[in-house]
Amino acid sequence: MTRTSSAAAVAHPNIALVKYWGKRDKVLVLPHAGSLSMTLDVFPTTTTVRITPGTAEDSVFIDNVPARGEALRRIVDFLDLVRARTGRRERARVETHNTVPVGAGLASSAAGFAALALAAATAYDACLDPTSLSRLARRGSGSACRSLFGGFVQWHAAHPGEQDPDHASYAEPVHDVHPDLDIALIAVLLQTTPKPVSSREAMQRTVATSPLFPSWLRSTREALADMRAALKDGDLDRIGAIAERNALGMHAAMETALPPVTYRTPASHHLLNHVSALRERGEQTWATMDAGPNVKVLCPATDATRIAAELAAASASPTVIARSGPAATLISQSRS
Ligand code: PMV
Repeated sequence: MTRTSSAAAVAHPNIALVKYWGKRDKVLVLPHAGSLSMTLDVFPTTTTVRITPGTAEDSVFIDNVPARGEALRRIVDFLDLVRARTGRRERARVETHNTVPVGAGLASSAAGFAALALAAATAYDACLDPTSLSRLARRGSGSACRSLFGGFVQWHAAHPGEQDPDHASYAEPVHDVHPDLDIALIAVLLQTTPKPVSSREAMQRTVATSPLFPSWLRSTREALADMRAALKDGDLDRIGAIAERNALGMHAAMETALPPVTYRTPASHHLLNHVSALRERGEQTWATMDAGPNVKVLCPATDATRIAAELAAASASPTVIARSGPAATLISQSRS
């Protein structure tokens, strides 16, 4: 019998328009609410998983540097999940190449675990369909489940009373999108150094101690339904307004945790104000932010080059224009 000996996959980051923030189950990585994102066409991550029979341990290289500590542990735990599912025991060598700064709130873990899920499942002959792969990627990093798919993607939370919540929490593409909708997302790279607090720790603290978290969660559930309707109508004004309010609410909730989690820097605040000022001048611009100081700006794709130049000047920082990007794909596979 021939077996797969190695597989390589590529995946892109996604940016949530309705955010995931807070787990109700840390082991299964089940969120408190659903979320909805756009997969980007920039910053791909490529990951190769090569089965290494005869070796006692997994080896992991991130951008050619051997992984250690928490980063290594998360990847080995993930490989253990795949091995448990397939009844295989061989260790593997993982090589991952990012084109986005890691840990700066630019969704590197989403692209990373989506590419790892596809490459590892293929290398270990797990034979999973895209929905099952999204469930698997979720266990590595919640937001990664959305990067298995291209375009707009919704991650289902699974109701608390669900018999099999692992099965009920997966991502799927949102097809009901107005054909004329053409959104760009401009990433303003204010700072690309790793964040001071991991999103894992920050979420936990927010859920446990922020007085604003319950109300943000309620508004997120409404935002999800409103976002679906706005995508269907192709109404960019509504899409932008819902996304910005949801992101600002998430930051308000974490900033009122004990101790506070503050990802927004003076430069982030300056840019957030600038985006509202542009809007007052009649531009269609809305901001969103993740677990880091960088600001991403939504605007019509036709205006993106002009607005990106304006944002670069206002922040003295580089900008990258992204559009809707593709699903994760397998780029090679070899058998022995
Ligand atoms: O998937 P994680 O654990 O890196 O969390 C990501 C959380 C946000 O990026 C802030 C929001 C989201 O929905 O992607």
